[in-house]
Parts: sequence; C-alpha cells; structure tokens
Amino acid sequence: MNKILVATDKPFAASAVNGIRKITEEAGYELRLLEKYNSKTELLEAVADVEAMIIRSDIVDAEVLDAAKKLKIVVRAGAGYDNIDLVAASAKGVVAMNTPGQNSNAVAELALGMMVYMARGAFNGTSGTELKDKSIGIHAYGNVGRYVGKIAHGFGMKVYAFDPYVKADAMIAEGVTPVHTVEDLYKTCQYVSLHIPANEQTKKSIGKKLLSLMPKGATLVNTARKEVINEEELLSVFEERPDFKYISDIEPGCKVEIAEKFAGRYFFTPKKMGAQTSEANNNAGLAAATQIVNFFEKGDRTYQVNK
Ligand code: 3PG
Repeated sequence: MNKILVATDKPFAASAVNGIRKITEEAGYELRLLEKYNSKTELLEAVADVEAMIIRSDIVDAEVLDAAKKLKIVVRAGAGYDNIDLVAASAKGVVAMNTPGQNSNAVAELALGMMVYMARGAFNGTSGTELKDKSIGIHAYGNVGRYVGKIAHGFGMKVYAFDPYVKADAMIAEGVTPVHTVEDLYKTCQYVSLHIPANEQTKKSIGKKLLSLMPKGATLVNTARKEVINEEELLSVFEERPDFKYISDIEPGCKVEIAEKFAGRYFFTPKKMGAQTSEANNNAGLAAATQIVNFFEKGDRTYQVNK
C-alpha cells in the first residue's frame, strides 16, 4: 500500500486535508500528516517510509530526499517549486510536480488587497488614494499575473505587463498593454506587481536600476519570492525616494531595518499567505492528491517539473 505524507509546516485548511484523505484513501493508499513541525529531524523521520509527499513551501533538499528511501513522487501543492532540489530529485529518480494555477486567484486577491490597504494609509483614518486610473505593471504574465490583471481592471486601473514568454496578442486580448522591455514596465507603472519565479536568473534581479525608474508614488508589490529582491538596493531606494513603498506577503531579511526607518511605507504579512485561503488549499491540495493517484495508477506525469 502506497503511503502518502502531507508535510506542511503551514497547514492546509481542514477541508483540504479531508479532501486529500478521501482521494488517497479511496485509491487504497494510507495518508499520513505532519503539520507545523518543529524541526527538520521530524521531517526526516516522517519521510523514511513513504512513497509520495505533498508539500507547500516546505524544503525538500538532498538530505530529505536521502532520508526518503522509498519516495517516488513529491508534489508541491502550489506554483513555485524553488523549495525542491530538482537535481537531487532527478538523481534519485523522484518525480517532482507542482499544481500550476490552483492558488492563483488567492494570491492575486491578496496583492490587490495589500495595494488598497497601503493606498488608504493602512486604514488609519487619514485621506488616502484610490487605485482607479493608476497604472499597474505585471512583471510576468503567468497564472497569478493574469488574475492580477483581471482584478486590477475591476478597480479601473491601467494594466501593463512584461513577459517575454507570452505573446503580445494574448495580453491585448485580455485588455492588457504589453511592454517590450522590463525597464519600460517600471518606467510606466506606479504599481509593479512581481510574479517571477525565484531561480538563478531572477535572484536579486529587482533592485535600484529598475525601482529608480518608477514614477512618483511608486509601490512595489511582492507576492512572488523574497529572493528576487536585491535587499541592499531596496534599502537604498527607500532611503533616496520618500515616495517609495513596498508591500509583500514575504518578509524581507531587512525587515527590522525597514520597520525602524520607514514607518508607514511598508506592509508585510507575518507569514507567507498569498495562497492561504480554504479555496486555494482545496484546489491545490486536491490537485496534488489526484496527481499522485494518477501517477501511481496511470503513469501520468503531467506537471512534472524535473524532466
Ligand atoms: C506558491 O508558490 O504556490 C505560493 O507562493 C504559495 O506558497 P504556500 O503554499 O507556501 O502558501
């Protein structure tokens, strides 16, 4: 009997766990849960005899893969899979998958929600600004970026996007103005919302060069990954531009410094929570469970990311 471990330091909503249980048990598998674990040791012990894992932002590195002697498949219930060591997974013959698109609306709603919160002075009773007629630049027009565009249209914003992998026609068909260079996106837009993955090309790629181009009243919105920000340069942009604001659901490493010096110009959620809705948990969790069953029963490798 295949044993499936749900290892989530940040647990799914109960309805998602119930749904995962139903799918996996109906397939005749055993479900195990490791939630809110306190140490890597707990994870290493839990993976020892399971054939499959469902994770969120939980780190699956070479050590975890080594400890998971029977593991055949790990599914990241979500979009970004920078938390899995793909090289080590491939070397061990472990299939890694994600569940693209399943939590995109939740992340997009949070991005726009944080924008309203910041534009209204954190609801502190002072006079704020509206999003209507402001420009928003979507940096990477993938699943989340497209939802951000849709919701931003609802607010009456002017929507731009930069994505070298998406055809201009596809953006235009959705009422989005494509820009041809990343610099143009930052030059044009008062708000820029990041939706790039964290990889060798993108790490520390958002810094002074781009942020200095943004028009007055600039706000950077990050629901992607903290690693894509050059934090030293971010601090210097905060220093040089009193109009600059930064909102994110991933606390930067330099959070304390920002909090000390730039009150009222930042907002960070205490935990990464773009995808933390019951709907997103259900969508991503159930998709992950179904992908595992389809992998074992039919050899289906759709969404494999370590080909
Ligand atoms: C993702 O990559 O899907 C999001 O960043 C959500 O991550 P989470 O599952 O840790 O909330």
